[in-house]
Amino acid sequence: MSSLIQPVRGMNDVLVEETPVWQLVERMAADLLSAYGYQEMRVPVVENTQLFKRAIGEFTDVVEKEMYTFTDAGGESLTLRPEATAGMVRAAISNGLLRGARLKVWCIGPMFRHEKPQKGRYRQFHQVDVEAIGFAGPDVDIELIALTARLWQKLGIERVTLQINSLGTADSRRDYRALLQDYFRAQFDVLDADSRRRLEGNPLRILDSKNPDLQALIAGAPLLTEHLDVESAAHFAALRRGLDALGIPYAVNPRLVRGLDYYSRTVFEWTTDALGSQDAVCSGGRYDGLISQLGGDATPAIGFAMGVERIVELVRQAGSTPAPPLPDVYVIAQGDAGVQAALVAAERLRHELPDRVVHVNLGGGNFKAQFRRADKSGASYALILGDDEIARGVAGWKSLRDDDAQRELPLADLARQVETALAARAERVN
Ligand code: HAM
Repeated sequence: MSSLIQPVRGMNDVLVEETPVWQLVERMAADLLSAYGYQEMRVPVVENTQLFKRAIGEFTDVVEKEMYTFTDAGGESLTLRPEATAGMVRAAISNGLLRGARLKVWCIGPMFRHEKPQKGRYRQFHQVDVEAIGFAGPDVDIELIALTARLWQKLGIERVTLQINSLGTADSRRDYRALLQDYFRAQFDVLDADSRRRLEGNPLRILDSKNPDLQALIAGAPLLTEHLDVESAAHFAALRRGLDALGIPYAVNPRLVRGLDYYSRTVFEWTTDALGSQDAVCSGGRYDGLISQLGGDATPAIGFAMGVERIVELVRQAGSTPAPPLPDVYVIAQGDAGVQAALVAAERLRHELPDRVVHVNLGGGNFKAQFRRADKSGASYALILGDDEIARGVAGWKSLRDDDAQRELPLADLARQVETALAARAERVN
């Protein structure tokens, strides 16, 4: 008995109609990152589970509930990466890239979180992840945010707004943590099971809770921004001045704590009102303590990641979907000799006219069927090769878009004549 194999829930196929927008987003991001001096790095999709536990934090939703963790045949506990920063930092440390050096790197690829799937939230999703390692800021913080703002502008995305906050240093957070513990302990009866567990482990995570019953309590909690150490406050003020100078609008959101434990000082998030509840399109922040926490020398760093599915949806909504290139020439053939001549002619055209798009009819069919396919392909011209044409050293040339009569082009001078015809048509059309 055979039964249909279903796709994995929350993991999507990107079909051919959608890839042009993906390619546009990926290309624009890659070009922009390169222009800002960032280089692409590729790291594995699977890492040791311990990496994510140590980097992201034991008391986060990601580590507690969402990781795809498995034991491999060698008995090692491995995890499909839920995010890229841990792997990028691990790669920088294990390849010895950080000794006194500074890195501006980025990567793109699938991430995996066992979340409840809904529109804009998937179990396999993609991020463009950007990391600037070895920079204490705040100059780099400002430039990274400017880079994201420029990407929205290039992609025609308008409905996004920026929120920023500062989480201070690990030290200032320790004092704040104690304050929070006092505050939430006094309301212990109101807390849910997750928050009670986090109260001792990491009370900041309670601020991140999505439980609607806790929102009023969270809204009344003391604010970290009011307990910043002097240097973090100065860093944050400089960040704000920089954004003001660049004319990038933002809102300070003192409740923005981010769902991962490695952050310190600057955190930021771009959200949109165009995607429903999954409104974060790009988020990140400074992680000055992470590298030493993972065994490297203490090195300041900052980065962000954007959700490609969400950006793709915004680009689609903005109507900036690119059309795939239409073929210039569709080669039609009849008979064994014709098929062979068609393949030879197409390869010659592709070689001599590398900017032109040439499709060959594959899989035979009578002339009528082939012309139908040629027309459907969107090609401007059909090039026709039958026994008669080959015997006379010519190819038929028929416009598929105008009423021009069919004519013949000599095979000996094919590329030049094809180019002349295409250029003349382009001039007529434009
Ligand atoms: P994050 O906020 O967990 O940060 O994810 C970054 C972005 O990935 C989000 O803003 C969102 O657009 C997208 N995203 C997250 N989860 C999903 C999902 N289930 N489905 C679709 N899109 C999703 C990080 O991952 C950090 N590593 C960012 C960073 C880099 N911080 C410093 N460097």
